Amino acid sequence: MLAEWFKHLTLPCPAPLRYMGYAREMIAIEARHKRCHVAWAPHLEHCKKVIGDAAQDIPHGKAVVLGSGLLLDIPLQGLSETFSDVVLVDIFHMPAARKRIRDMANVCLETADITGLADATWTHVREARAGPLPPPRADAGVFADADLVVSANVLTQLPLFPMGWVEEKGQGYGEDDIKAFARRIVDHHLELLAALPGRVCLLTESQRVICDGDQVLQEIDPLFGATIPASGLKWTWDIAPRPEITRRIDLRFRMTGIADLKAALS
Ligand SMILES: C[S@@+](CC[C@H](N)C(=O)[O-])C[C@H]1O[C@@H](n2cnc3c(N)ncnc32)[C@H](O)[C@@H]1O
Repeated sequence: MLAEWFKHLTLPCPAPLRYMGYAREMIAIEARHKRCHVAWAPHLEHCKKVIGDAAQDIPHGKAVVLGSGLLLDIPLQGLSETFSDVVLVDIFHMPAARKRIRDMANVCLETADITGLADATWTHVREARAGPLPPPRADAGVFADADLVVSANVLTQLPLFPMGWVEEKGQGYGEDDIKAFARRIVDHHLELLAALPGRVCLLTESQRVICDGDQVLQEIDPLFGATIPASGLKWTWDIAPRPEITRRIDLRFRMTGIADLKAALS
């Protein structure tokens, strides 16, 4: 915990992302992966397999990964060998990701907010504005011409920090306003993906389950009511087996991996 706190203090990161929690979350994921890597291994393998399947039978010009993060769930070597160019998109790139791609000549990092509302939400709340919360604005930008776009476990992360920031510091927003804000962000990402010309691969959690062993204590919808196709590979990610959160609780994510999202939607 102390090491995570120190890393957070010293990590070079734009102030809005630091205060809204993006950097803290990345540091927490890195630390949790170290503690729970055995429990995470099957999940990471499933993700890599779905991405490998998505890369079949398409042109191999440009692949783009959205929410590339720590590159844990990405078959980076395989993508780099298969595609001419690989672009890793995240709102913030951790030193570990920079280090990992250092010797890969056809892999680059692109820093972009794929919702287009993180800065606007930061300002909206800081200036104590009232009225409608900022809408998602991002267009496909750098990934519009990709042969493969992978949404890599980013969908349900997109609303978390803008939402948390409004909840914590915003003036006069109720639970329903915040849930509607989150839902718009999730819908926007799904619409953006569905409109892309190339192959689109979606990896996402579809349900969070808090358990005591086999007993389900609580189920949480991380998609805020949005729907994704029922097809695709399904698995459970033991993201925080006990005693990670407490000695009596396990946190599991029900996962979906769709190698060809547009085919699944049609
Ligand atoms: C759970 S991680 C995904 C896991 C990642 N693929 C890996 O292998 O480590 C979610 C990622 O989404 C990124 N993210 C969250 N909001 C974003 C946004 N608005 N635009 C771009 N990336 C965002 C986070 O910075 C984080 O790296």
